[in-house]
Amino acid sequence: MKNIILCGFMGCGKTTLAKALANEYNMPLIDTDEEIVKREGRTIAEIFSSDGEQYFRDLETALIKELSESEGAVISLGGGLAANERNHPYLKQAGALILLDCGIEQTLNRITGDGSRPLTAGGVDDIIARYNFRKPIYESVADIVIDSSGSKKRTLQLTLTALEEMV
Ligand code: S3P
Repeated sequence: MKNIILCGFMGCGKTTLAKALANEYNMPLIDTDEEIVKREGRTIAEIFSSDGEQYFRDLETALIKELSESEGAVISLGGGLAANERNHPYLKQAGALILLDCGIEQTLNRITGDGSRPLTAGGVDDIIARYNFRKPIYESVADIVIDSSGSKKRTLQLTLTALEEMV
């Protein structure tokens, strides 16, 4: 089985759902943010402030290229990875890509003022502009779109049903 991959904007619930899916299917879990932090030995905020965003984006591309040749894992992507079109061929090769979207209001509630996410520093207007810019790019590459504005249980249920319909 190829991988099950979760994408979407910051705060959409990728990490939580990825854990639940890995548990449900008894598959290993890979979180691209965590993997980069582990390999670099520093936090994402530190990577952005010392080496800049582009350096981080290059690490993301190298990682998804590597993962596109693997199989059998649940992969949770950092929010910018599927928003970067140069990563789309690797994502297509990597497995079934699920987009989670909880809408802009919930997104703002969940991420505003989160210091561990460098891209929230620009404030509400910047987050809204980024969300609106990315939404069609995520949609263009996703195989399945899931509304993640409800409870964690509901999001899991919707995802399991959509995955069953896909096979
Ligand atoms: C980013 C999202 C973050 C992390 C980095 C950049 C983005 O991941 O990769 O701060 O560009 O949206 P989460 O979506 O897991 O917060």
